[in-house]
Amino acid sequence: MSFNPLEHRGIPLDRQLRNWRELNVDPIDPDHADPYTRCRIITMNGIEVEALMFSHQFARNCADMDVKRQLAEVRYLEQQQQKVVNWLLPGTVSALETTIAYEQVAVDLTAWVARMEPDPYLTQAYQFGVLEDFDHLYRYANLYEMIQHRKAEKIVNGLTEVIPGRPTKYHHRHPADNVRAPYDRTTTAPISKLHALTIMSAEQQTMNFYMNVGPQYMEPIARQLYQEIGLIEEEHVTHYESLVDPGETWWERLVLHEYNECYLYHSFMQTESDRRIKAIWELHLNMELEHLRVACDLLRTHDGREPEEVTGPALPEPVTFEPNKAYLRELLDTQIDLTTLGEGYVRDAHERFERMQEALNGDGPPPSETVIDEHRERFGQDYRLSTEGEHPVEELRAPQPTGTTGGQR
Ligand SMILES: [Fe+2]
Ligand SMILES: [Fe+2]
Ligand SMILES: [Fe+2]
Repeated sequence: MSFNPLEHRGIPLDRQLRNWRELNVDPIDPDHADPYTRCRIITMNGIEVEALMFSHQFARNCADMDVKRQLAEVRYLEQQQQKVVNWLLPGTVSALETTIAYEQVAVDLTAWVARMEPDPYLTQAYQFGVLEDFDHLYRYANLYEMIQHRKAEKIVNGLTEVIPGRPTKYHHRHPADNVRAPYDRTTTAPISKLHALTIMSAEQQTMNFYMNVGPQYMEPIARQLYQEIGLIEEEHVTHYESLVDPGETWWERLVLHEYNECYLYHSFMQTESDRRIKAIWELHLNMELEHLRVACDLLRTHDGREPEEVTGPALPEPVTFEPNKAYLRELLDTQIDLTTLGEGYVRDAHERFERMQEALNGDGPPPSETVIDEHRERFGQDYRLSTEGEHPVEELRAPQPTGTTGGQR
């Protein structure tokens, strides 16, 4: 039987508070941990940060003092969860090493979601985005070898390939073309709502991370590359957040946030290879079950609806970190030259795209090209980690004027 979080009682709120000793978790060992354990930690940090920022926005839009107090109480516990989760990352690791892990998350989480998503319009959104984070991984891996003299294969451990995707320079689109059409909250499958929330949260965390760590580097090429990719993460957050139906009520959104936290902790509890970390996922699941119960009561009181109408009857299949190499190769072969126009996708280098390209890239090469050029000068070739034979994409292809494609709502 699949797990229904609405039928399980969690830990009462007044027993969830943790003291300094309980918050003081040992970090994972960066040299021996499963890369996908690190990916699960990064994903859950993104999810917890979204839970926090959503709750703050809710509180700022809410006049009911009882609700504000309830939000503050749960939010403090979410903060403790965030502290435990993100403090599992070791301090011995550089921001760039964490960056490479962030891009590994973006690649394998988004690819998995694209494979599982039932709505073709949403699937196209994930397929489109994943080829860009795939290329970011390649650019940062080249930067990593240049400034830290280490290879990204130590971090991704052969689970994810590091090869060119859709070239980063072509990711700079007019902002209006990053806004997708939302799903319909009344007809979409619950899994689609959870997918959108998960990927939006992960990309938002990446955007926030780059805007803060980027200027900490002294090497000009590092500072420049973080600026460029940081701006693309702004595009990605716009792209993914616009998939969510803005007609969802605040109560409905609160339930979905808590339900999604339950879904992901439950998923990771089932798939975690590290027993110590698995116990943390299990503890947090038992906390989230109670957060969810509180949110469901608010939904009943204020919206007069039952949570099942919003969440569906049980959790979908567990979100799984696993290699997606063949799937990504297939996308590289078929979708590398796509860009967006309005709410859809085209292979056409249209006027608004060209204008944006000229504004950003017209005066000299973007940092994402310079980093590869400098790497080739220093090492004779660019850095790649190809585990499935030769990489088929030799030319960096621009969107070509060959007509429109699918993916229209
Ligand atoms: Fe949480
Ligand atoms: Fe991204
Ligand atoms: Fe929560």
